[in-house]
Amino acid sequence: MQTANHSKGTAGTIGQPITYEKIPTQIFADSKEASNAVAREIADLIRQKQNEGKPCVLGLATGSSPKTVYAILVRMHREEGLSFRNVISFNLDEYYQMEPDSIYSYHRFMKEQLFDHVDILKENYFIPDGTVPSSSLRDYCTSYENRINAVGGLDFQLLGIGGNGHIGFNEPGALINSRTRLITLDHSTRVAASMEFGGLHNVPRKAITLGVAPILNARRIVLLAWGERKASVIQRAVEGPVSELNPASYLQAHPDVSFVVDESAASELTRIKTPWAVDSVVWDNKMIKKAITHLSRTLSKPILKLTDKDYNDNGMSDLLAQYGSGYEININVFNQLQHTITGWPGGKPDADDTYRPERALPAKKRVLIFSPHPDDDIISMGGTFQRLVDQGHEVHVAYQTSGNIAVADDEALRFIDFVVDFNNGFGIDNEETNQLFLDAKNFLRHTKDSEIDTPEIRKVKGLLRRGEAKATCRFVGIPTSQAHFLNMPFYETGTVQKKPIGAEDIQIIENLIDEIKPHQIYAAGDFADPHGTHKVCWDAIEAALNRSKEKEYMKDCWVWLYRGAWAEWDIYEIEMAVPMSPDQVLKKRQGIFKHQSQKDGVVFQGEDSREFWQRAEERNRGTAHLYDELGLAEYEAMEAFVRWKF
Ligand code: F6R
Repeated sequence: MQTANHSKGTAGTIGQPITYEKIPTQIFADSKEASNAVAREIADLIRQKQNEGKPCVLGLATGSSPKTVYAILVRMHREEGLSFRNVISFNLDEYYQMEPDSIYSYHRFMKEQLFDHVDILKENYFIPDGTVPSSSLRDYCTSYENRINAVGGLDFQLLGIGGNGHIGFNEPGALINSRTRLITLDHSTRVAASMEFGGLHNVPRKAITLGVAPILNARRIVLLAWGERKASVIQRAVEGPVSELNPASYLQAHPDVSFVVDESAASELTRIKTPWAVDSVVWDNKMIKKAITHLSRTLSKPILKLTDKDYNDNGMSDLLAQYGSGYEININVFNQLQHTITGWPGGKPDADDTYRPERALPAKKRVLIFSPHPDDDIISMGGTFQRLVDQGHEVHVAYQTSGNIAVADDEALRFIDFVVDFNNGFGIDNEETNQLFLDAKNFLRHTKDSEIDTPEIRKVKGLLRRGEAKATCRFVGIPTSQAHFLNMPFYETGTVQKKPIGAEDIQIIENLIDEIKPHQIYAAGDFADPHGTHKVCWDAIEAALNRSKEKEYMKDCWVWLYRGAWAEWDIYEIEMAVPMSPDQVLKKRQGIFKHQSQKDGVVFQGEDSREFWQRAEERNRGTAHLYDELGLAEYEAMEAFVRWKF
């Protein structure tokens, strides 16, 4: 029999929790709170150095992780008078070859996120130069490091972490003594960056990066990580062996390093994943569910077959003592899981709903599905969407953003070309369309990396995705009048960088909820999507819900969160699981295919090379498989939901 492995932890003093962590790791409720703490630390350091009359030498990173830290520093500069005049900064890396004014360059990123908004002196920030001729690169890299040393070395180094464990662009295989140099980017890094570059083929193959050795030379290091997609690499870096295959693990050797993570990125750490293996825990219902499903999976035994000995052997003897018998606990958890399964996501009319996830009444519900991008509804909950329609509910879908940045130029041209031919074919004289086509063609032919799409091209791309979403609605069987295209303003920048959520965004959501007065709302609770759009979309819904909570109809409105393309709920969190038959899985796939602009080499695929329909199917099959493994009924696939309450 296989038992859970708890042998790798080390006991501290007697009575202290066992620790598996070799790097001090601070876990915050969310990335905003965490970023606040880090921004405070940086601001305190800048001020302390100011008081000492010394420069403050910062090592800075780009990417999605430090953005909020920079935004908070900018706010502190504006509102609290934090000055950057004594700051000297060195960025970790830059793509090679890269013009500094390109929209893809880290130069531009740093200017847009921080430097243009604070009083740092132009001559005091340094970013590796992506235009240095290859013949002088070696000397250039040495001089970059020398410059850091000449100002006394880095006081503070801010880091992100790649899904493959890279720090800076020190990819797996980088040595602990590596210096600043030109490197070849790992394939997974290029795939992750393909989001920013509008396709893998546009991503540079090389970059200049500060080496591991100069990073480790910084007097203080803080590494940031947010979201589930960082959870596994964080666990390996913090708890695993030091290995060149995971460069972030080198940080275990640093005397003053902290990892600052949100709850999702911490979710694979032993103290979070199996807290009962670290210290005594309070055995509330959620913890029991978490422990029993974990035990069942670790031992590959259905829940109802777990024995008292299994509990004792795996650090749960106190739970056993509390309940007297493992069988009692098994039955209890089994029943709870059983009650999450329903083929009636809108509630089953005329049925006792005591143990059903949704209430039976009203039998016909008004349902509002929020879809951050135009395809999240079908990808993430296509099977449930279909059932709700088939079971006679009035289903509306709100497409929150236009999704226009995820359309390839080629696709846009193809559609404008179609309109021109259409007009010609039907003898419609439309000079404006012809001109639009010519302009678009010219723009796309001459486009430089420093330019973003014209408003016209963005509009075409948005319309194209709108057409695809409408096609899905027709396919599932709702009138397109029940498809609402919100075009939330925060998204409309034409680049991957979005504006912060504004009052107008929230108002749009509030107005729609008010108009429909739904009994059920479905929203994306999938906060780990690479651009953070799902999170912003949820923030707007949450703010609108909080503003509406006193309204009479809201008292009868239940909110369900789904996850889809990027991550799935943990099994113990799921509160409603909607099964799908093999035919329903196939139908959902066809529904996803309506989004042709997102098929075959999609622009924003993330680190996962599978297409969206493949991910959705594998995830839904995976959820069904989990239920089966735990000893419940075996379905082809399942979509999972968690209920959100005020
Ligand atoms: C950026 C850098 C990289 C990123 C890492 C994580 O200057 O050196 O190591 O920190 O790729 O990127 P995000 O934060 O976008 O997940």
